[in-house]
Amino acid sequence: MNNIRSVVTGTGHYLPEKIVPNSYFEDFIDTSDEWITTRTGIKQRHFASSEESTSTMGIKAAQMALVNSGNKPEDIDLVILATSTSDHTFPSTATQIQSGLGISRGYAFDIQAVCAGFVFALANANALIKSGEATKALVIGSETFSRLMDWEDRTTCILFGDGAGAVVVEEDQPANGGPERGVLATDLHSDGRYKDILFVDGGVTTGTTGHLRMKGREVFRHAVSKLVNSTEEVLKKAKVSGSDVDWAVPHQANIRIIQSATQKLNIPIDKVVVTLEQHGNTSAASIPISLSVANAEGKFKKGDLILSHAIGGGLCWGSFLLRW
Ligand code: UT7
Repeated sequence: MNNIRSVVTGTGHYLPEKIVPNSYFEDFIDTSDEWITTRTGIKQRHFASSEESTSTMGIKAAQMALVNSGNKPEDIDLVILATSTSDHTFPSTATQIQSGLGISRGYAFDIQAVCAGFVFALANANALIKSGEATKALVIGSETFSRLMDWEDRTTCILFGDGAGAVVVEEDQPANGGPERGVLATDLHSDGRYKDILFVDGGVTTGTTGHLRMKGREVFRHAVSKLVNSTEEVLKKAKVSGSDVDWAVPHQANIRIIQSATQKLNIPIDKVVVTLEQHGNTSAASIPISLSVANAEGKFKKGDLILSHAIGGGLCWGSFLLRW
């Protein structure tokens, strides 16, 4: 294997202006701020305006990541967007983001692994960079899940929010014996036997966009063990342990899943980035938003070991470990 590494050099995020507190739902469904807070950890979420979409939010997050990394749009030769809420059935929303940024070289495509989408996208960007098929990638997660909600279903409509996050990942050739930065290990899984516990009941087969349907308790049951097993796999590949991790940046679905998984991995909660309270579950956008928020707060320092993991519809799940 060659010596090429994929190093994260910049982060960005965008959240729509409209903030929706838990109390908003009390007016039209049988729920309460108290139930939502204690069962999920969510206090508020952002909803996109009618002028906003997955591509417009993705462009804003990507622009921030480009500035943060010191790159110009024309430096980018790969755009990967993780999303389950494409603007259109085709072309890919990644190509709309590519043109919105003024990039006309390289290539762009969407990845659909629902809440695990950003983990799948980063693993693909890493593989393309290491194989020489790309040198500087924008890896984006952007979602408008508010457009998939059934507002009469109290078990799902209180969980999700809209937003976008992005990272720039660049080829790096460490000098012989130099520190190993960048993506150290990735681990991806899916198991379609569980496709019916989290899905959208629309698409080209129905001619409708459809609504999100979830058996929450069943997804929860799979989440902790699958996230822990996958993370143990990346830690093993990188020959480190949970206690070596400087920051965990998990998918933000439920504070109880985050607490339980990180505790089993021996990662103290003060080393876990949690943005769920402010943003709700933004699906594929949740990890890049959290990376960008934490980076903007100055949490990460060069050489830090950063772990992410996620699980979502499919089921699809996985994890990555990188050195900042
Ligand atoms: O990001 C993609 C992956 N998704 C996930 O990881 C989500 C995983 N699942 C979860 O986070 C949790 O299962 C939920 C937050 C969705 C639900 O929490 P729970 O503790 O598993 O609740 P539950 O489904 O077992 O429901 C407990 C009770 C039920 O009432 P009964 O049957 O005990 O009378 C529900 O009907 O809570 C009721 N309930 C609500 N009550 C007030 C469900 N939703 C609500 C609500 N407000 N919004």
